[in-house]
This record gives sequence, structure tokens and C-alpha cells, in this order.
Amino acid sequence: MKVLFVSSEVFPLIKTGGLADVSGSLPTALQGLGVDIRILVPGYPAVLAALKDLKTIAWVDHLPHIDQAEIQLGTIESTQVKVLVIKAPSIYERNGGPYADPQGLEWQDNPIRFGVLSKVAAILASDHSPLKDWHPNIVHCNDWQTGLTPAYMQLTEHARAKSIISLHNMAFQGCYPPHWVTSLGLPSANFTIEGFEYHNQLSFLKAGIFYADAISTVSPRYAQEIQTTAFGFGLEGLLSKRGHEIKGILNGIETDEWNPATDQYLAKHYSANKLAGKKQVKKALQQQLGLDIDADAPLLGVVSRLTHQKGLDMLLPHLQSLINQGCQFALLGGGETALESAFLEIAAQNPSRASVTIGYNEPLSHQIMAGCDMFVMPSRFEPCGLNQLYGLAYGTPPIVNATGGLADSIIDADATHLSSKTANGFVMVEASADGLIASIQRALDMFRAEPKVWKQLQTTGMSQDLSWDKSAQEYLALYQTLI
Ligand code: ADP
Ligand code: GLC
Repeated sequence: MKVLFVSSEVFPLIKTGGLADVSGSLPTALQGLGVDIRILVPGYPAVLAALKDLKTIAWVDHLPHIDQAEIQLGTIESTQVKVLVIKAPSIYERNGGPYADPQGLEWQDNPIRFGVLSKVAAILASDHSPLKDWHPNIVHCNDWQTGLTPAYMQLTEHARAKSIISLHNMAFQGCYPPHWVTSLGLPSANFTIEGFEYHNQLSFLKAGIFYADAISTVSPRYAQEIQTTAFGFGLEGLLSKRGHEIKGILNGIETDEWNPATDQYLAKHYSANKLAGKKQVKKALQQQLGLDIDADAPLLGVVSRLTHQKGLDMLLPHLQSLINQGCQFALLGGGETALESAFLEIAAQNPSRASVTIGYNEPLSHQIMAGCDMFVMPSRFEPCGLNQLYGLAYGTPPIVNATGGLADSIIDADATHLSSKTANGFVMVEASADGLIASIQRALDMFRAEPKVWKQLQTTGMSQDLSWDKSAQEYLALYQTLI
């Protein structure tokens, strides 16, 4: 089976969040199952720099706005997965992130940037593909940036390959004014409710959901949630029409990259049977962040985008009192200015108890995950969430809200689950500041008074199989139903 896996970010080439982690690790797992997979990604400078063996293998013509692009083939060294890169300097080669400029403003030509990504994918899946020796049976799209692919495949390229779209986050939809329909070469006849129109805008995500042959979400709970008004971001109607077809498959993690026994960013290694090293990692983290060296102070960690989704505003009202009762706090993240400033202010007032690092920092994300005692993730919605899975793997029990993949992966430390030894974290009873502080308080009480039970919680998470093995099988089974 040949699969073209289309994504706007892929670890270790380019990453802003969990989509990159999945786009790096799922293809690796599928390749391990015998799938002949190639990832298709835009040729951002970081991608061109990271792939050492790139060579041009084809040209694609008649692309919207840019006419022609080169297709280069390279290999991700660490996983040996093949990558097709779209080399189109005028739209992809510039300073800044994949979606926004260095100031954080969305690129004005994003409809072109991701229209081209979608169109190239559809062409490579068609009979007139310029790739002579590789024709995919399946095109696996991810999120709005690739949403036009299924529409192009059906409406303009008449591709025989089947398409699937994985929904990683309904909050981002790629909606643009109607003039983009013709300017991206889409048929105006399909700019209707029964097509890619959404409130008189061209919706990339709706196009994907409407035209894909199959739909998946990154957790089973999220598959249900998005069919409701609270989580569907306006597309719940369409989603519930296709509700019985939506397959929820929980993300796995890259266990080579995220493993405390081998992690390249940790000074000391540890595992479920040899937890002692974690104490040293905590000490190193306290030292590095300028916190008091204190083995007993419960250290709460956060690594997150600072947006409404992630719910960290619910932590703010109680953070000072947690610090006053002896807790330490380490945050790494970035996003909304108001949230950044509020956390920075707490750090400024408590320099030896709270550390806040704004920005993106891969090594520090691993060090916080390993060095903290508990991981706070009170997301209002969370399609899957990877950080709570990393928390489990690193013996850092997660404290989470009961939504999406958090609900599917974290089992509360209540009496029943503790006695069956299945508990691996703490689940909030309600999504509010009070709900969050109540769960944190339960975690602190256990951490301080019941070290044996705490250790059991840690080792339960660390012993779980969080790898892609099972979920990659489910994707493979889904592909097989399509062809
Ligand atoms: P989302 O994709 O919604 O942001 P996930 O939990 O699925 O949430 O994945 C987030 C990924 O991004 C994780 O790999 C996490 O470690 C990483 N991450 C988030 N913020 C930062 C940051 N500031 N620095 C480094 N890594 C980060
Ligand atoms: C999105 C979601 C996150 C998920 C990730 C990878 O960024 O917000 O919950 O883990 O995609 O699927």
C-alpha cells in the first residue's frame, strides 16, 4: 500500500505543536508495518536545511498563483522516512514560522501557501502525476492546511486514490473571502452549503470534511465531542451527518524521542524500576531555572501554547497561594500576550519559586517534563494532547480536564482506580479555576503524605504502552477499508 501523508509541519523538520509530532511519528510507525509512505511538506527554509540528501525528481505545473513548483525527494535521517518537499521559494522561503511572520501576524498569502500544498497533493494522487514510479492509493490529509486536497482530488484532478482527513483541531479552519474560490482554481458551482462554502467564506477545513472519503480524529472522545455545538466550531451539523463514519484513534508517542531512560536532553536517566535518577533531574532543573534546590517542594510543570484552548488562565487565580504553601512552578510556552504577562509577573514576584520561559525550546520541554513532579494541563478542549502522554512516560502524573484525548488517556486517582492500580493522574471534576485547584490539592496531598501511592501512580503511567503500535494498526485498517 502506498500512502501520501500531507502535513504543514513534521518533526524533526519543522514544528509548532503536536501536529508535527504526529506527522513525524505516525508515518514512521506505518512504515514499520510495511506501508510505503511518503510525507508531503512545504519547502520552508528549516525543511530544506534539515534534509541533507534532497534531489529534484519532478516539476508540477499549473499551480494557483505560482505556476510551477519543484518536487524534491529527501529522507529523514533518524527514521528513514521519505519526504517529498515542495520547492516554491516565492511562497515558502522566508523568515518566520509556517503560519505567521516573526511578529506573529498570519501570512497574508496563507490561502496560496496551503492551497498549493493541497493542490500538489491532489496532482500527485492523480493519473497525470509527474511522479512516474510512485502512485499513492491513499492520501492522508491533516487539518485545514490540507483541507482542499480532497476537494481538488474529486473536483479538478479526478484522482482515483482515496482520501482521509485527520482532524487535530477544529478551532482552526482556514476560512477566506469568496474571491479565493476561483483564484485557487476551485469550481464556483461547489461554493455552496453542499460544498466548501461556510457563511459565505471558502473554508479549507469544511472542504476536507465534506469531500474526504474517510474522517478521523486524534482521540475517540473528540470524535463524539465535535458533533456537538460546544466543540464543533460551527461544523457540528456536517460532522454529525457523517458521525457514524468518524473514526477516533488515540495518538501514540515517539518512544525513541520521549523516553526518560535515553533522553538526550537529560543529565541523568531513569525508568519505572529505577526512579532515583528523576530526583537528580529535578535538582538540575531547579538549578538551571534559578529555583531553590529543594527535593521536597512539589514542582508543578507546564509546557504549552498559551491560548484559551489550554485553560491555563484557570491556574492563575490560585498560583500565588500554591507558591505560598511551598510549591514551585516551571512554565515553558508562548502565545497570548495577556497570559504571558500574567505568568511573567508571578515569576518576577517569586524568583526562587517560579520560573516562566516564554518561547519555544525543545530541550527545556523535555527537562521540564522530566524534572517536575506533576504536569498541569487543564485544557478546555484537547483533540488528543501529547504532553499528558509525555507526562505519563516521564513519571510526572498529569492533572487534566476531562475532555478529548485527556479523558481518553488519564485515569483519575480515585479510590477505585487506585485499588485496581489503573490510576495514572488526576482529572478535574469541572472546567473551572476551582475544579483545577481541587485536583491540584488532591495531587499535593498524595505527593506529600503518601509517597508509596504516588510512586504507584508514577510507575503505572511509565509502564503503559504509549507507542504507536496499536494506533498505527488502526490507521492501516482504516486505509484498507477504503481500497
Ligand atoms: P498542541 O499541538 O495543541 O499545542 P499537544 O499536547 O498535542 O498540543 O502538543 C504540543 C507539542 O508541542 C508537544 O510536543 C510539546 O512538548 C510542544 N511544545 C509546546 N509548547 C512548546 C514550547 N514552548 N517549547 C517547546 N515545545 C513546546
Ligand atoms: C492539535 C491538538 C492536540 C493534538 C495535536 C496532535 O494540535 O490541539 O490536542 O494532540 O493536534 O494530534
